[in-house]
Amino acid sequence: MPDRLWDTSAPAKVILLGEHAVVYGQPAISVAVDLRMRCRIRPDRSSSLNGTPLTPQNYSYVSACIDKRRSGPMAVTTESDFPSGSGLGSSAAVTVALLAALAKCQGGWREDEIARQAFEVESEIQGRASPIDTSTCAHGRGIMIKKRPGEKLLWEISRDTRHWCVHDLDVPEMKLVIGFTGRSAPTGPLVAKVKRYVDRTRFASDIIQEIGQVTEEGARRLAMNDLESLGRLMTRDHKLLAILGVSSVGLDKLVSAALPYSYGAKLTGAGGGGSMIALTDRPDMVVEAIKNKGGQPFIASTGVPGVKEE
Ligand code: MEV
Repeated sequence: MPDRLWDTSAPAKVILLGEHAVVYGQPAISVAVDLRMRCRIRPDRSSSLNGTPLTPQNYSYVSACIDKRRSGPMAVTTESDFPSGSGLGSSAAVTVALLAALAKCQGGWREDEIARQAFEVESEIQGRASPIDTSTCAHGRGIMIKKRPGEKLLWEISRDTRHWCVHDLDVPEMKLVIGFTGRSAPTGPLVAKVKRYVDRTRFASDIIQEIGQVTEEGARRLAMNDLESLGRLMTRDHKLLAILGVSSVGLDKLVSAALPYSYGAKLTGAGGGGSMIALTDRPDMVVEAIKNKGGQPFIASTGVPGVKEE
């Protein structure tokens, strides 16, 4: 094995617009940020994560990656700049980084192959999912998911009757403030909660469609570098997500605290806890506001690479 410490790394992701709706085939925009998950592997007699043996009950993402690559038992070590369960895609980042490390040991990897396999792993474990988290961690920079292929198509992914076209997206250099509520919330049950709502009411399906429209408008504003309008759309998206029942008291509190100093703010990821983001040109004020409400702030920059060898 090489004597370098970390084999691969993948970035955290921040969904700017469209989470939950993207599971139903609506568009979504996501960016990679400068917080990374690093992963190192070493063949061993039995598999482990950070020294703890893998069992059928623990670390299902790690076991699923090792099974998918049929690599034999591995001692896996991870180190992360961001908390797990924070809505920043820690499961996707570990899955992407680990699949790439395993593939590297087997001869090499391609970004699209890692994105597809990571989506399969996430779907097997999370249940209903879209490829947004895994594709962002694989590709880095920015991505936009659309119903139909267009310019800068990266890859297409299908599952049951749903189909997603993942595109590279030019994202201006942006400073985002992330506010972690300190409460982790697993994605699977939140996605299932929205599904029950959508299955039962026309109203919830209309909200999903409206999130799609807000996202499309957001993409146009992003292309014009019109951060004020983009921020307003993010705040609108937060309200729509709250109607779907995936915000929380903690998230609403941090969003309200950030808004006076921001173009816009919203929960990011599955919600229910996890993190919110604020688009702002006054990051220090937002950081203070989030701290004052008991949140854990991070200032994050966009424009970072996806999965890579270390
Ligand atoms: C979670 O980061 C994003 C969701 O839309 C779920 C998914 O797309 O798989 C809530």
